[in-house]
Amino acid sequence: MKKAAIQADHSNPVISIRGLKKAFQDYSVLRGIDLDLYQGENLVVLGRSGTGKSVLIKIISGLLKPDAGQVEVLGYNIATISEDELQALRIRIGFSFQNSALYDSMTVRKNLEFPLVRNRRNLTRGEINTNVEAVLDAVGLSQTINQMPSELSGGQRKRIGIARTLILNPEIMLYDEPTAGLDPITCIEINDLINEVQQRYNTSSIIITHDLTCAKQTGDRIAMLLDGQFQRTGTFEEVFATEDERVKPFYDYNFIK
Ligand SMILES: Nc1ncnc2c1ncn2[C@@H]1O[C@H](COP(=O)(O)OP(=O)(O)OP(=O)(O)O)[C@@H](O)[C@H]1O
Ligand SMILES: [Mg+2]
Repeated sequence: MKKAAIQADHSNPVISIRGLKKAFQDYSVLRGIDLDLYQGENLVVLGRSGTGKSVLIKIISGLLKPDAGQVEVLGYNIATISEDELQALRIRIGFSFQNSALYDSMTVRKNLEFPLVRNRRNLTRGEINTNVEAVLDAVGLSQTINQMPSELSGGQRKRIGIARTLILNPEIMLYDEPTAGLDPITCIEINDLINEVQQRYNTSSIIITHDLTCAKQTGDRIAMLLDGQFQRTGTFEEVFATEDERVKPFYDYNFIK
């Protein structure tokens, strides 16, 4: 499905990163990252394995600490935020993990209830049910409510993982390789879902992927991480209009020239 055009508000970044550095032991992964995520946009982050894409979104969501630089998320400086503020901020960020991270011993309903019961303690049973049913409907899987995760396909698990983050109405969505391991048709369905989420929940999103069809279908902007920095940023066409040997193989592999 063709992506609807969006009007991202460039005066209003929801994430603003300047000079971000992160090393592990003596290996410098992020070497001075500058990046803005604007309200309402889908930003795709591309990069080879091990370039630090997951590290970047873990820093954004406060799971890892930066070594240097400034990371501002929804107006909070991640380096100086208090533990209480960080807990509150995390609820405003939906993190869709690569492995879907469902609880295998709980039904779909219980998996979806879990974040609500933990974070919205004043909800009634009826309100919880309404919320669960609404997000399941949003991801097109109402019929799976009483199933166990082991009974779902990879694509369905991915959708339930996304539903579980949507249930807290996040302002920012972070998708770590949302289409990894899925067949091409299911990939297209997940890409459509990412775009539907953007429209319906008015989220701003970072989508990490190796899949250029996903990048093309979902990304309003693409940022390419090379050697620890974002060295190419723009539309899909702009990013790949280059003879750079670090960039071309990505395109050639995905679209078999
Ligand atoms: N907690 C950690 N401790 C030590 N090293 C880490 C840690 N997390 C990540 N790294 C290292 O940082 C580098 C970047 O890891 P990261 O997971 O961000 O890569 P990636 O770009 O997401 O790769 P992939 O596409 O394979 O998921 C890797 O060399 C990894 O080994
Ligand atoms: Mg990763």
